[in-house]
Amino acid sequence: MNTKEIRKALAQWYERNKRILPWRETHDPYKIWISEIILQQTRVAQGYNYYLRFIERFPDVKTLAEAHEDEVLRLWQGLGYYSRARNLHAAAHQIMERYNGLFPHTPEDVSQLKGIGDYTTAAICSFAYNTPIAVVDGNVYRVLARLTACEIPIDTTIGKKHYAQLAQEVLDQQNAALHNQAMMELGALQCVPGTPDCTQCPLSTWCESASKDTATLLPIKEKKTKVRARYFHYIRFIIGNTFYLQKRTAKDIWQHLYEYPLIETEEPLDTASLLTHPSFQKWTEGNDDIRITRQTNIRKHVLSHQHIHTQLTEVRLSKETPALAKLIGVQPEKADMYAVPRIIELLNNDIKLNQP
Ligand code: ADE
Repeated sequence: MNTKEIRKALAQWYERNKRILPWRETHDPYKIWISEIILQQTRVAQGYNYYLRFIERFPDVKTLAEAHEDEVLRLWQGLGYYSRARNLHAAAHQIMERYNGLFPHTPEDVSQLKGIGDYTTAAICSFAYNTPIAVVDGNVYRVLARLTACEIPIDTTIGKKHYAQLAQEVLDQQNAALHNQAMMELGALQCVPGTPDCTQCPLSTWCESASKDTATLLPIKEKKTKVRARYFHYIRFIIGNTFYLQKRTAKDIWQHLYEYPLIETEEPLDTASLLTHPSFQKWTEGNDDIRITRQTNIRKHVLSHQHIHTQLTEVRLSKETPALAKLIGVQPEKADMYAVPRIIELLNNDIKLNQP
C-alpha cells in the first residue's frame, strides 16, 4: 500500500469536497466533544440543529455542569439514546471537579470521562489538539475494508484490532485532524454503504476492492443483529383538565424520560384486551364511567435492535384512583416541562394534541 500517496490524494479530495460544518471550524475540545456525542448514531443533517441549540444554551463545560439534568434531556429530546445526554452532563461535572473546568489534554485523561470511549477520545484529541491517533468509526471501517479488500469481519475482536492498526498505519501523523476528518468524510460522501461510484473515488488507484469490483460486498459483518418486537400501549388518562405521566426509571430505552402510563406486551393487544388488562383495571379501579375518547393508529418505531409498535389511547375518567395518584398529574400548560421520547410527540400529533 502506498500510504504516502493515499494520504495526499485523500487530503486533496477532502479540501475540495468537504462539507462546511460548525464543529470543523473550531479547535475547542468542548464543542468537538458535544458534536461527536450528538453525531454518534445520528446523521449530520439531523444533528446539525441540535448541535447549534446545545452550544448556544451550554457554550462551555461550566454552563453544562450547572444545568439541571431535565433541561439537558429536553434539549436532547428527539435525538434518542438518552444515556448519551446524561453521560455528557456527568462528564461535565467530572471536568469541573478534576480539572477545574478545563478540558483535559491527554488521551488517557479524556478517555476516563463518562461516556467517552476509544472513538470519541481519538476524535476529540486529534481534532482539538492534532494528537496522532486514528479515529475508527463505521465510515472508516468501510473505507479500510474496501481499500484493502479485507474480509475480516468488523464486528469481531480480531477485526477491531486489525482495522485499528491499519487506520493507525494509514494515519498522517503530522496532520491527524485533517486526515481523520477526511477518512470519515470519504466514507460519508464517496465510499458510501450501498453502491459507491468508484470511478469518482480519489483512492481508486490503490483500492483493491475497486479493481476487483467487490466494494459493495464489503465490509463483512459476522453477526446479524436480532430484532426484538415490543408492543407499547400508552394511555392518556384525563380527569378534568389533568393528564398523567410517569418517569421511565428502568435500565431500558428512554431511561429518565417521561411517558404516559404504559402497558407493554410481547404480543399485540386489541382494545378490548387492553381494557381488561390488570394494569388498566388498577388505574381505573372504582370508575363506572370510563370513556375512550380518541385512539391513534399503531405506529412502528424502529431502533437498531428493537421494533416498537406503539399506540396511544385517550381515556376519560371521572375520579382519580390510588394507582393514578402515584403518577405525575400534569396540567396541559405545564406539559412542556417534561422531556418525552420522540414517539410520544408523534403519537400526540396523530391525535392532534399539544405537548406532550
Ligand atoms: N460524524 C461523526 N463525527 C463527525 C464529524 N466530525 N464530521 C462529520 N460527521 C461526523
